[in-house]
Amino acid sequence: MKVLVLGGAGYIGSHICKALALLNHQSVVVDNLSTGHREAVRWSRFIEADILEPDTLIKILQEEGPFDLIMHFCAKSLVGESVEKPALYYRNNVAGTLNLLDAMVATQHNKLVFSSTAAVFGMPEKELIDEQHSRLPINPYGQSKKMVEDVLGDYHHAYGIKSVALRYFNACGADPDGEIGERHEPETHLIPNILKSAIAGKTSGLKVFGDNYPTPDGTCIRDYIHVNDLASAHILAGEYLQQNDGAFAFNLGNGNGFSVFQVIEAAKNVVQQDIAYSIEPPRAGDPSTLVADSTRARQVLGWQPAYTDIESIIATAWTWHQNEKF
Ligand code: UFG
Repeated sequence: MKVLVLGGAGYIGSHICKALALLNHQSVVVDNLSTGHREAVRWSRFIEADILEPDTLIKILQEEGPFDLIMHFCAKSLVGESVEKPALYYRNNVAGTLNLLDAMVATQHNKLVFSSTAAVFGMPEKELIDEQHSRLPINPYGQSKKMVEDVLGDYHHAYGIKSVALRYFNACGADPDGEIGERHEPETHLIPNILKSAIAGKTSGLKVFGDNYPTPDGTCIRDYIHVNDLASAHILAGEYLQQNDGAFAFNLGNGNGFSVFQVIEAAKNVVQQDIAYSIEPPRAGDPSTLVADSTRARQVLGWQPAYTDIESIIATAWTWHQNEKF
């Protein structure tokens, strides 16, 4: 396939570009480098551009295409920031995606894999979240992704755009070869923060946000899914769109929940040292438990996550953080 990867300089997009290259697919990356890293684009032609510029998108699709598939990862993705700056989230995530969809219609491109999130669901109503779960987001980030999911349904109906929205639970881990990995500024995610605090050897650098949740050990439970397993799901979704017509959505997780304390314990085993932490007040908007039911992705896409053990996931992130290349 020839694939256009918007946001391919970011954490998840760059891992997908490597996975595409390993399968001999050709990719072109478009990224504005606002949060992505030029050094992470190693397997693709690179074009620096912004999805907020509709004419540029049309030009890229015309001049670089035709593409068999478009994958779209460009987004603002911090829950807390979205509450403070909703305009930034609706402009980038919703208006930016509308620009892309309209450029696709204008240039006769009709297959899109869209990066969605578990944040579209809001507060969990049951233990395992499947695709039937109601979508009632509790922050502008989740709302912006839900709005795009709804737009995708309408654009399929009216303009024939076929799409798969993939709702990630907690993306984590890194390329096992250590060539690319997770680097956010500021870093807000649990596993990188644990490993950075292990490297810094700080005595109290790591903060645990809340130990009084209604969970067995009082800390939040999440479903940690390796970034390369997300990559394989994207490629399967792209292949699915070559054969199937519709606007589809799948939840992507391991189906196993780990508490913050359990992740810290697993990380201690990986790094072979103690990790100190302080207990802090809960973070606004954190649901106590978020675990995916990914039966549908397994059955329909034939997806099979390779990393199901939390220590082996953390070990790949540890390889990266010990020797970060950018
Ligand atoms: N946590 C800490 N200390 C830290 C970082 C995180 O205790 O330094 C806790 C959080 O409070 C949470 C858990 O670890 O309980 C996981 O937090 P992350 O920030 O790693 O991930 P989130 O579950 O908050 O976020 C993920 C995705 C978002 C998505 C969200 C849906 O990264 O894009 O799930 O709720 F919106």
